[in-house]
Amino acid sequence: MTASAEQDNGESTTDTSTAEIAVYWQEEEYYHAPDSFIEQANLKDRDVFKRFALENFPDYYKEFSAMLDWYQPWDTLLDSSNPPFWRWYIGGKLNASFNCIDRHLDIHKNKAALYFVPEPEDEPIAAITYQELYVRVNEMAVYLQEALKLHRGDRVTIHMPMVAELAVTMLACARIGVIHSVVFGGFSAQACADRMVDSDSSVLVTMDGYWRDGKWLDHKEKADETVRLAAEAGHAVDRVIIFGRYPGEYRSKCQLVDGRDILINDALKAYDGRRVAPEHMDSNDTLFLMYTSGSTGKPKAAQHSTGGYLSYVTAMSKWILDIKPEDVYWCMADIGWITGHSFIVYGPLSLGASSIIYEGVPTCPDAGRPWRVAQRLDVNIFHTSPTAIRSIRKVGPDEPTKYNYKFKLMVTVGEPIEPDVWRWYYKVIGKADAAVVDTWWQTENGGFLCSTVPALDPMKPGSTGPAVPGIHPVIYDEDGNEIPEKSGKGGNICIRNPWPGLMLGIWGDPDRYVATYYQRYCRDATSKDWRDWPYFAGDGAMQAPDGYYRILGRIDDVINVAGHRLGTKEIESAVLEVDGVAEAAVIAASDEIKGVIPEIYVTLQPGVEGTGSMRQKIVDVIVRDIGPIARPRNVWLVPDLPKTRSGKIMRRVLASISNSKDTGDVTSLANPEIVEAIRKTVSR
Ligand code: WTA
Repeated sequence: MTASAEQDNGESTTDTSTAEIAVYWQEEEYYHAPDSFIEQANLKDRDVFKRFALENFPDYYKEFSAMLDWYQPWDTLLDSSNPPFWRWYIGGKLNASFNCIDRHLDIHKNKAALYFVPEPEDEPIAAITYQELYVRVNEMAVYLQEALKLHRGDRVTIHMPMVAELAVTMLACARIGVIHSVVFGGFSAQACADRMVDSDSSVLVTMDGYWRDGKWLDHKEKADETVRLAAEAGHAVDRVIIFGRYPGEYRSKCQLVDGRDILINDALKAYDGRRVAPEHMDSNDTLFLMYTSGSTGKPKAAQHSTGGYLSYVTAMSKWILDIKPEDVYWCMADIGWITGHSFIVYGPLSLGASSIIYEGVPTCPDAGRPWRVAQRLDVNIFHTSPTAIRSIRKVGPDEPTKYNYKFKLMVTVGEPIEPDVWRWYYKVIGKADAAVVDTWWQTENGGFLCSTVPALDPMKPGSTGPAVPGIHPVIYDEDGNEIPEKSGKGGNICIRNPWPGLMLGIWGDPDRYVATYYQRYCRDATSKDWRDWPYFAGDGAMQAPDGYYRILGRIDDVINVAGHRLGTKEIESAVLEVDGVAEAAVIAASDEIKGVIPEIYVTLQPGVEGTGSMRQKIVDVIVRDIGPIARPRNVWLVPDLPKTRSGKIMRRVLASISNSKDTGDVTSLANPEIVEAIRKTVSR
């Protein structure tokens, strides 16, 4: 697989490592969910597969919107008149905060909506009931409206750690129709500033600091730096709203800036008891922006709708995650990623469940921590990533057996999971008594594309499963031919039909949306028929004879580090800022815990010396511009990079070297001799 929608010459780049590892996996045995799970499952009627057959598209998506409360019912289910900008539930009006909070108050107001679990274990867990969430969201919403004069359609950037106030702020925005743009807390000030500029948002919501891996991190520092960097780019950030990690205190070393910085816990006191009626939002009004990496340098914002998105995540939470109001659900992802938006905040709250927000590192202060949380709160649904499972297994292989908890369902997401890791997850963490779903999807999709339906499909380690009800994938080869179904042959996975969770588009860049996701396999750019517009996911996949898909990894310039998407171009452009660097190429090196980790090959300008301090400068600039998640394993200073005759850097060859694999035939390169020289540098 060598394709990328944003790349025209079809040369392979970073794809090889993940794809090749996965291709060599063997077929695996099936596992079955316990009867105790099946009996109580939300979806156990096999008829669903018939109802959601492609010939019933789009009618079957009526079932999803019926899971929400609408102020005004929609009149047109799908408007596909302007491909590929699909619009769902036209004419419908609703509010996401109403659906996630108000509608539960009659029955569940005393139930925990959120549990905030601080990283320091001696701090008490905070349970926030639906009533308390209602109060806090209302007060914050009134504040945003009255004090900050924010209106429907304005953007607010939220750069916060994993705390309940993050969810409160998102829901407060949703209540008054303000579009939230949450930036992952671990991202740098530069990343935050870039996103503020792109989304044209002048309010930043942040926190003074937080705990991570036993250390107090000053987070306000990043806010000051964000404002400075945005100003440099000609963009004014007018207000910085600061939550106190310990309300009533301000624990940052950074000075408050008069007129700009607001300690919100104090300011909210004036709004005590205030309420605001939820805005009646159109189904296709934007609920939030979520930035993600693509093939080109600049991250792009997936723009998610209110009605389609919320319907989709509610249905997926109910059918695939099997969430019910009585469940205690823990997703260890960060709310700063799409998994956290859909499956910590919107999905579980829409269903009236209790959702856990854990501040810190899972293995802090020791490997027993996750299981103490599970035991104490009686968690019964657990959601995490292969990277977290691998690291938990490494540091505490026997810990789960020491604690008394029982999961009914467990979820994995974000990267391919090796069958061996899957089995450990199932047997040790799940005590061989839970259903496991391996969910494949993307930031752009809102919710799941492929997964088993836990009570209906057996599990198969290492395979995500068939598509979820309503999604109809197709695998194409490089030339646009359909690869026969269930043939076991790899190709580029696409989705034949639109679905309500799919983003509305890319914020401010409709052309990029079309080019990235549709151009490659669109059959006729003038067609008004959705059948001519398959959605190109950017992943390689194969379908086994039993209909299960195995995801082989990204086929574009994206690497998936510990389940987090990073653009190789983003990292490379950071490296190129360092004085003396001539060229940079980033590749994905296999890693025992994180799946892959970036490794960088750099050439220097003539006369510049390749020293340890140069390598350090390169690492520093990456951490500064993107964040510690992009920290490379190695920076290799090499005399030249392997190139094609047209001058394109062959990252695939570099990836083979980093992963100690055969580079294949390199004789057609412009400089084949460099391959051996680089291999020597790397193996030294
Ligand atoms: C990868 C995360 C294999 C895939 C929800 C996709 C997976 C990218 C799986 C999206 C899975 C996600 N098995 N690979 N179960 N889930 N991926 O946008 O390459 O952060 O394209 O969304 O993660 O990452 P994103």
